[in-house]
Amino acid sequence: MELINKTIELVKEKLEGTESGHDWFHIERVWKLSLKIQEKEGGDKLIIELAALLHDIADPKFHNGDETLASKIVNEFLTEQKVDSETIEKVLFIIENMSFKNRNDAPGNLPLELKIVQDADRLDAIGAIGIARTFNFGGYKNNLMYHPDIEPKLNQTKEQYKKSNGTTINHFYEKLLLLKDLLNTKTAREIAEHRHQFMLQFLEEFYKEWNVTF
Ligand code: ADP
Ligand code: NI
Repeated sequence: MELINKTIELVKEKLEGTESGHDWFHIERVWKLSLKIQEKEGGDKLIIELAALLHDIADPKFHNGDETLASKIVNEFLTEQKVDSETIEKVLFIIENMSFKNRNDAPGNLPLELKIVQDADRLDAIGAIGIARTFNFGGYKNNLMYHPDIEPKLNQTKEQYKKSNGTTINHFYEKLLLLKDLLNTKTAREIAEHRHQFMLQFLEEFYKEWNVTF
């Protein structure tokens, strides 16, 4: 479909050269996962595809904390593509409310389309890919991989979470291991089960090798 192809083109262009956990391939996986979940759970396919493709178009953490840039780009692009304003509103709502760090500010009753794209994004944050993305991001930030004396910080506020330069292993306890229970759909929960177990197994191995207790 022409609109989807145009959207892919825009996303690829905007994400050129980004950190590899948030690049076009992350978007492609979230897009495919969203479609897989949509097949089982329903929801408006076009809204889901557009939101999945556009959800990280201008992540504030790579744009000096600017939280309005993404909406501006998406609004301009979809208007230019002659997408109706109701669809644009729905896509913008998803993009503005699906992030993990904004989860405490999001309104209560979320549309199915948001739930699906959010689940897809969260699934890409766990499992083997999730582990790889997290270490890549930690390296990009020059954070420590692990420090036995630095404890994970649970229940951080959004500001504390954004500033955090804790260890990458702690990020598992601060976010990745929490995601399984935050998923919205049954389909995503089923996919998450194996990925979650895989992360637990990874951590077990990591500590054994670190402590030389294998
Ligand atoms: P969202 O964009 O959904 O609010 P984040 O940007 O916080 O979520 O996280 C997206 C991904 O970036 C995480 O799943 C993880 O892989 C990586 N990431 C974010 N913060 C950290 C961190 N402090 N250490 C390691 N990886 C991180
Ligand atoms: Ni994402």
